[in-house]
Amino acid sequence: MAPVSLRIHAIAYGADDVLLFDLRAPARGGLAPFDAGAHIDLRLPRGITRSYSLLNDPAERHRYVIGVKREPESRGGSAWLHGDARVGALIEVDGPSNHFALDESAPHVVFIAGGIGITPLWSMVQRLEHLGTPWTLHYRARSRRGAALVDELAGHGDRVHLSFGDEGAPSLDLAAIVAAAPEGAHFYCCGPVPMLEAFEAACAGLDPARVHLEYFAAKEAPATEGGFVVHLARSGRTIPIAAGCTILDALQASGVAVPSSCQQGVCGICETAVLAGVPDHRDLVLSEQERAAGRTMMICCSGATSAELTLDL
Ligand code: FES
Repeated sequence: MAPVSLRIHAIAYGADDVLLFDLRAPARGGLAPFDAGAHIDLRLPRGITRSYSLLNDPAERHRYVIGVKREPESRGGSAWLHGDARVGALIEVDGPSNHFALDESAPHVVFIAGGIGITPLWSMVQRLEHLGTPWTLHYRARSRRGAALVDELAGHGDRVHLSFGDEGAPSLDLAAIVAAAPEGAHFYCCGPVPMLEAFEAACAGLDPARVHLEYFAAKEAPATEGGFVVHLARSGRTIPIAAGCTILDALQASGVAVPSSCQQGVCGICETAVLAGVPDHRDLVLSEQERAAGRTMMICCSGATSAELTLDL
């Protein structure tokens, strides 16, 4: 689908190193609806695409709001948004899409956020408020000054548990949080990789349908072993994948244009249909069942265990 052009209506301080961007349609029209947990993809200068979770109330139709943390290792996304983006400018946006959907049938929801991972969970909180579903939220950040949405969360009293490293608070005891949750509760976690791994361990004994998480960064190294070939079914081309590069690297080097963003198997933009062969999945987008089915793959990070792969490109 073609991107839409949205205006940067406002940029606000969210926390130290976090800016909040309010994006609206230039003609004051409505935007495509979104569900809690959804993200949009921003097409930035120099061909960079970056995904950001929507943090506003899904009932809103007039704007998308994202929180952007300035990453010291930024390859151009957060650095451009923090340094060059201006109110009034137009920006190309794809989506919304959602790999982190809220199960609205849950009797109770427990949220666990780390750092900027609070953004999709805050959208979910607002949705649950409309539904009248009880929830609790545990939010860990290095410092209060660096934690976004603290003022908004403060209005929810003892349902919100804040934990800041620079105030001497110990790390969240995820096993205790899970054990103390009401019967049948669903659990959502978004934050840095160590927190997500601890969350997965704490939830290991639960029904997977009640456990939901979203990674912002890769957990596994990309497949760069190479030694296989990729057939492109639509163009009829065959591209060898050499050691040291991903499928995406090889396609781009051969002049094949493929959309990509995170290049870490997190955002899902490069998802490509597999027509033959066996992918070696390294992404964080596909479920175990989807991985086993092998019908699609993230070509930015996943490789092949077969000598040949045929992709719908
Ligand atoms: S570019 Fe984000 S999953 Fe491949």
